[in-house]
Formats: sequence, structure tokens, C-alpha cells
Amino acid sequence: MDYSKFFSADVPSFLRSPVREIFRKVDLGSICSFAGGYPSESSFPVAEIERLAGKVLEKYGTRALQYGATQGVPELREVIARRYGVPVSQVQITTSSQQGIDVSTRILADPGDIVLSEPPTYLGALQSFRAYRTRVMSPGDYTPAAGKAKFLYVIPDFNNPTGRTLSLPEREALVEKARGLDVLIVEDSPYREVRYAGTPLPSIRSLAPERTLHLGSFSKIFAPGFRLGWIIGPEALLEQIYVCKQSLDLCPPVFDQYMAAEFMGSGALDANLSKTVAEYRQRRDRMLSLLRQHMPEGVRWTEPEGGLFLWLTLPEAVDTVEMYDEALARGVAYVAGSFFYPDGSHRNTMRLNYTYIAEEKMAPGVALLAEIIRSRL
Ligand SMILES: Cc1ncc(COP(=O)(O)O)c(C=O)c1O
Repeated sequence: MDYSKFFSADVPSFLRSPVREIFRKVDLGSICSFAGGYPSESSFPVAEIERLAGKVLEKYGTRALQYGATQGVPELREVIARRYGVPVSQVQITTSSQQGIDVSTRILADPGDIVLSEPPTYLGALQSFRAYRTRVMSPGDYTPAAGKAKFLYVIPDFNNPTGRTLSLPEREALVEKARGLDVLIVEDSPYREVRYAGTPLPSIRSLAPERTLHLGSFSKIFAPGFRLGWIIGPEALLEQIYVCKQSLDLCPPVFDQYMAAEFMGSGALDANLSKTVAEYRQRRDRMLSLLRQHMPEGVRWTEPEGGLFLWLTLPEAVDTVEMYDEALARGVAYVAGSFFYPDGSHRNTMRLNYTYIAEEKMAPGVALLAEIIRSRL
């Protein structure tokens, strides 16, 4: 049966994630993979989670297993509000920050509207923008003649895919741009607290609270399996998100929220995070030193101060999309950088994750990647 006639007009716009396709094709555990955007499994506080699960059931009883408020359970909203110095009324819990991106796009943009985002940018965000049939444009290229821009999407800290962080002047310029164009800002910030060098910079929200939806996530500071995030923003915007979310999931997972509230509220999150940050710093340093040791001349990379990724720019002659099958066959995986560009350009770039790969696979993985690149110069 041909089902295509049943599909909505949105369906042809859905963008299939090339990253997830890679995961389907190959068992990444069996090779040297720098592909997935996964946290280190040693960052998961397994024993603490076991203890907390019992505590949550004891403390909250069947409430922890019941439906909850669409905004999130009050205990978690309060812990987040306290941590970030905002009123509880400005906190909405989400079923992951991916949902935060999706729901923000859904309430703000119509088909044909423009989302301003500097490429390369997070693939999951591009998927949401495409699903709602918006157009993505670099803020530098935008003029009002191009169409209606509704919001500017930015990952200011340790960007996925590049690992880059916006400087304070860049943040100020971005806010000025948003004010000048009178657009909102969606600040996607899942890595903000995973900083292992340098000094924290003011969030975009702190510079423009009146026009920013700040998206946070428990994925990199607790565990992604819980699928929990939050949005901090003006009440009038959260009110629309609240109504929209009712049709998406009724409420975020209640048991998980109590777990997160206990974990964050007790200080266990900070203790665990400082261990994770120390491990990631070491992994990044190792990765940078391996790149210096093995990569041929002409290859450049970012030196992230936090987060999960770094970004390689190769000589123009190397096509990382075309090189990918050989790399996989020889036992090393990465994500081609062009997937993070809405127009598929920059085929001489790649994203490397260094937080998930087994320590002993890092050196052979970088050496192998360097050898494949060298053979194509
Ligand atoms: C920039 C960015 N935003 C959002 C997400 C999604 O995170 P979550 O697990 O909270 O949905 C990711 C995950 O990799 C990300 O890199």
C-alpha cells in the first residue's frame, strides 16, 4: 500500500539525522568512535541513582508515579529557580532540551518564517526548524526583505558541533542584533555547566531576560536517559509553552523529576559534576595532544574550554562525507561537518566527540584518522 497520500504536508520537510543513521549502520562499540554526542558513562552516578530511587519512593510515595503538573513538579522547579536565581514562575520543565527547542519553534514560527542561526549548528535544532517548515539563515546575511525573522537560535557555550564559546563582546553584539531586529532569542545551553577551563561568561538570558528563552538540560550533568530539561523565560512566553506542551506529553516524567530534584537540591549534582569536569579536562588534553602528534600539516582544530566536542577543519581537498565509508570500514567514526550546515557546505570539516570513546581507543583512533586524512592530501 502506498501510504504517502496520507501524510501531512509537514512530513516531506522532516530531516533524517545522518548521525542516527550512522548508529543504525554500525556497532560503534566495536570501533574507535568519535561520532556520538554521548557523555562518558563514568559520569553517570549509578550508586547515587540507586539510593535516590528508594528515597524518592519513600519520600513522595505514589505521587512519584502519578501524572504531574504540566509545568513540572514544584520541587524541581524550585530547585532550578534557586540555583539560577529566578522566580519559580519563570521555570518550565521539559522532557529534554530537544523538546525545549521543538516547543519554542512551535509556538514562535510559522511555515516560511526565518530562524536566525549562525552555521554550523546543532543538527537536532535544524530538524525542528525544518519540521515546522521555517527557513534557517545566518544573522549576518539577514535583511527584512528576506522575510519575517522570529527568533535567533544560539548555543553560546561550547557549541555543538564546534566546541566554540562566544566571547562577551560577541554576546553583547548578538543581543544588540536581536533588539535591533526585534526578534526573540532561544539560548540553547546544555553544556554551560560542563566547563573545564577559562571563566564563565554571562548567559545571553542575563543580558536580555525580556527576550530570551534559556534552555537547560540534565543530559550532560545527570544522565540523558532521564530526558529532562528546563526553560527559563518570561512568564508570557512560558504560558504558551505550557498550553502547547499539554498536547505533547501532558507532563514531563514525574519520577525522573523527583530524582533530579533530589540530586540537584542535595548538592550531589555539583559533587558529581566536578568529577566529570575533571575527567573531561583530561580527555580533552589527551585528545589535543594526540591531534598535535598525528595530524598532517594543514589540519586545524578548536580547543574547547568545555562541552563534548571539537571541530576539525581539513585542507579543501579532503571531502569528509566521501571519506566516511573508508573510515568506518577501517574502524574509526566521526560526524562529517557539512551535516551541521543547512546548505550541506564545508565538506572539509568534521566533528569529533572525545567524552564517550574508551580511553584506550583514543590514541589508535586519532592515529588511524590521521592516516586516512594524509592518504587523501
Ligand atoms: C546543542 C544541543 N542542544 C540540545 C541537545 C539535546 O539535549 P537533550 O538530551 O536535553 O534533549 C543537544 C544534545 O546533544 C545539544 O547538543
